[in-house]
Amino acid sequence: MAQRLPILFNKKPCYDIVFSKEFNELLEELGELGVTEKRLCIVTDSTVKELYGESLKQLLEGKCKKVCLYAFPAGENSKTLDTVKEIYKFLIEEGFGRKDMLLALGGGVTGDVTGYAAATYMRGIDYVQIPTTLLAQTDSSVGGKTGVDFDGYKNMVGAFKMPKLVYMNLSVLKSLDNRQYFAGFAEVMKYGLIKDGAFYEWLISNMYEICERDLDVLEEMIMKSCTVKKLVVEKDPLEEGDRALLNFGHTIGHAIEKAKGFELLHGECVALGSVAAAYISWKRELLSMEEFYEIRDMFVPFYLPITVDGIDPEEIVKLTKSDKKMENGKIKFVLLKKIGKAVIDRSVTEEEILAAVKEIYFSEEDAHE
Ligand code: GLY
Repeated sequence: MAQRLPILFNKKPCYDIVFSKEFNELLEELGELGVTEKRLCIVTDSTVKELYGESLKQLLEGKCKKVCLYAFPAGENSKTLDTVKEIYKFLIEEGFGRKDMLLALGGGVTGDVTGYAAATYMRGIDYVQIPTTLLAQTDSSVGGKTGVDFDGYKNMVGAFKMPKLVYMNLSVLKSLDNRQYFAGFAEVMKYGLIKDGAFYEWLISNMYEICERDLDVLEEMIMKSCTVKKLVVEKDPLEEGDRALLNFGHTIGHAIEKAKGFELLHGECVALGSVAAAYISWKRELLSMEEFYEIRDMFVPFYLPITVDGIDPEEIVKLTKSDKKMENGKIKFVLLKKIGKAVIDRSVTEEEILAAVKEIYFSEEDAHE
């Protein structure tokens, strides 16, 4: 029997996150949303189409008015308005109206792009998130943030649009390649670091099982992650205040992502950004030196980077200023007050950011020393 976590919006029930270990239970969940009378479009990427897209289409065939499958090329480079435009064209050609529904089947890019198409097509149609990566299951599918990158700037264009359902088939995590799987762990660590010190300790104790992808442990880990996210987004759904805590590691992370031309995965950049943010927290004497090194080294067994080469630290500082997390010209930086408690700080200086980026920067010269 699938477990579920209800998410409220403005204190009213909005949608459920369903944690299953198969796709079959999705039929009943979609039935509850009245899909027999709807056209459904599964939006996915070229990789996930082959793995689960076709079989999900077959599963839904005959259970709704019509089911279509639309796939775009896999990768962050598809997270653009051009992809959204292609989705609109497809929906128009297939006769989709306001009462029909999109199903976002895939990772963070698919969820964000499909959600944005759903938020804007005919001024908004319903959509369901079916996340298939660890990052999407623990972070991007929950909370209604949708959007695309613009001119290489991360998530510059977007909208808040709550899904009707988030359905997770946890067994798909077994098919992820190691790099994609471990990249998702950076967001999981984030929840422990910003809000839940006991969860952080739990992650340390369950390190082996997490690396081995033990499904029962993963279920607990994903449910705990979603519970932290639930508490944050229910209190501040539109990021007017504390939701910004979820951006821990993202200010410097996004800058590195852009500077490296999206060669590194989002989660990998979040790991680097988290080490840098923890470094500033240590230098401000919020964290002890031991805590900083423990946090930094926690990423290593999960194959996440703690240093980066081929960047210009000064350029990274510049890029942090073009990130969305600015308010009246000041960066809303997330620091750790202690493990399990984050704070938003508007006083972090360029010098502090530069020192933190230098801390994670691994130059050619270092290699020859
Ligand atoms: N991924 C950050 C948020 O959902 O607010």
